[in-house]
Amino acid sequence: MYKIVSIPGDGIGPEVVAGAVSVLEQLSKKHCFEIEIEEHPFGGASYDLHGEMLTLATLEACKNCDAVLLGAVGGPKWEKLPHEHKPEAALLKIRKELELFANLRPAKVYDALLGASSLKADVVRGTDFLVFRELTGGIYFGHPRGFDENKGWNTMVYERYEVERIARLAFEAARKRDKKVISIDKANVLEVSQFWRNVVHEVHKDFPDIVLSDMYVDNAAMQIVRNPKQFDVIVTSNLFGDILSDIAGMITGSLGMLPSASIGKKHALYEPIHGSAPDIAGQNKANPIATIASVAMMFDYSFSLPGIATEIYQAIEATLASGLRTADIANPGENTVSTTVMTEAIVRHLGA
Ligand code: IPM
Ligand code: MG
Repeated sequence: MYKIVSIPGDGIGPEVVAGAVSVLEQLSKKHCFEIEIEEHPFGGASYDLHGEMLTLATLEACKNCDAVLLGAVGGPKWEKLPHEHKPEAALLKIRKELELFANLRPAKVYDALLGASSLKADVVRGTDFLVFRELTGGIYFGHPRGFDENKGWNTMVYERYEVERIARLAFEAARKRDKKVISIDKANVLEVSQFWRNVVHEVHKDFPDIVLSDMYVDNAAMQIVRNPKQFDVIVTSNLFGDILSDIAGMITGSLGMLPSASIGKKHALYEPIHGSAPDIAGQNKANPIATIASVAMMFDYSFSLPGIATEIYQAIEATLASGLRTADIANPGENTVSTTVMTEAIVRHLGA
């Protein structure tokens, strides 16, 4: 039995999570395993109910399950709240509390969507890399931090164990892929980055079968749009990974397609890369694929059932090949389908 906590959140979150839940239910019928899905409020939805974006009850539920499925948080209604009450703060808190130190963001191009990329089809065709972003350290969490009238400050700091554990995961992932890791830093300027680089190379000694190279972050941003096919596994710090994963996301066409996994030693959380898209919320227009693909990552990483992950990816590909498009991935003038129609088609392609 798998116990999953779902936190649909705000905006399109509930719609895309509903799509992912239908996929989970279909898989549970098809493969005869039991799934228990418990829903909890998070983000603005939770703030409106309890005056807090992340309640202790939701946090405890997330700590006591096999995997968390998150939709999206935030929206204009809660934008003016003080910093510590903002949805972003709740997201950082849940990452820290669950110790989700590794954020995995695959950038994989679906052939059916080559036309949707803002880059030339020849440049993006065949792109398939995986970003390992460190998620619970670096400048996002360093102290001292603050601002007053005349200055603002944050601290970028990494402890050895923090670099070691993310590097190790990246090398292990590369073993199952093309055996190439590129570590991205700013070691020509930042001491913390020189330290990062040194530690990654020390960990590399345990992985002689993997080719490791280093790249400065500014060059990496350029290389990702110049020739994305050169990358296999990228490992990088929290802030650089935040920026690079958005760039990487866009080469595949739509953020509406991209899943992510945030994993730690004990817990794991799966969510689409896109946000809550308040402008289309409640209209049955959102693309559910990123959240459904996040369920595929859940089967792969949390349940060690890569075969089922593959089934989900294949159902997504077959649905796209049949021509169905939500608005975000449609070419101008093309017919579009709703969230529920897209979901039902994927469920049908999964088979019984
Ligand atoms: C992301 C987002 C978050 C981040 C924000 C919303 C806090 O941009 O998950 O990439 O910066 O980590
Ligand atoms: Mg981001």
